[in-house]
Amino acid sequence: MTLARTLCYNRANMKKNIVIIGFMGCGKSKVSRNLQARCNLPRFSTDKIIEEREGKKISTIFRDFGESYFRRQEALVVKEVSKHQGVIIDCGGGVVVNPANFRALKKTGILFYLDATPECLLQNIKSGKARPLLKVPDPLKEIKKLLDQRRSFYEKAHYKVDANYMPIPKIGDQIIEILSTL
Ligand code: S3P
Repeated sequence: MTLARTLCYNRANMKKNIVIIGFMGCGKSKVSRNLQARCNLPRFSTDKIIEEREGKKISTIFRDFGESYFRRQEALVVKEVSKHQGVIIDCGGGVVVNPANFRALKKTGILFYLDATPECLLQNIKSGKARPLLKVPDPLKEIKKLLDQRRSFYEKAHYKVDANYMPIPKIGDQIIEILSTL
C-alpha cells in the first residue's frame, strides 16, 4: 500500500481536517495543493474564499477597507470551513493569531505549522503574490518583527514541519508521513 493510500484509508476513519498554517511565504498554498493532488481531498483556501466573495484581491481589500475589515471576513470564513470534515484547509498567515479561529480549526483539524527562517520567507515572498503587510521599505525587518509576534501562535500547532528552503513535495512528504502514523 502506498503512503497516499494508507493516508486515505486512515482519513476515511478519522475525518479530521488537514490544516496548514504558518507565516506568509512558507508555502502553505503550494503544499496544500500538493496534498490535494496526492490524497484526492477537497481543499479550501481562506484567502481565496475571501477574494471570491468580495470580488477583489486581498491587497485591494486591505487598501479599500483596511485590515480589520479583512480580519472580520477571515474569521467568518474560518468558522465556516472549520465545520467541514476530511478536507484540507490552507490558512492565511494571520489566521491563527485570532484565538477563536485557532480554537475552531483545532477542534476539527490536525494543524501543521510550516516553519521557515525569515530569509527563506522573504525569498519565497519575492517570487509570489502581493502581501499588503509587507509593502514596507525593509520587508525582512518586518517579517522578523511579525514572526516574533506570531511564533508562539504557530507553535501551538499539533505538528511543526520543516519548510526551510525545502521543495514543496518534500514538505508534503513530511505531512503524509505524520498522517500515516495516526
Ligand atoms: C496575511 C497573510 C496573507 C493574507 C493577508 C494577511 C498575514 O496570506 O491572508 O495578506 O497576516 O500574514 P498568506 O499567508 O497566504 O500570504
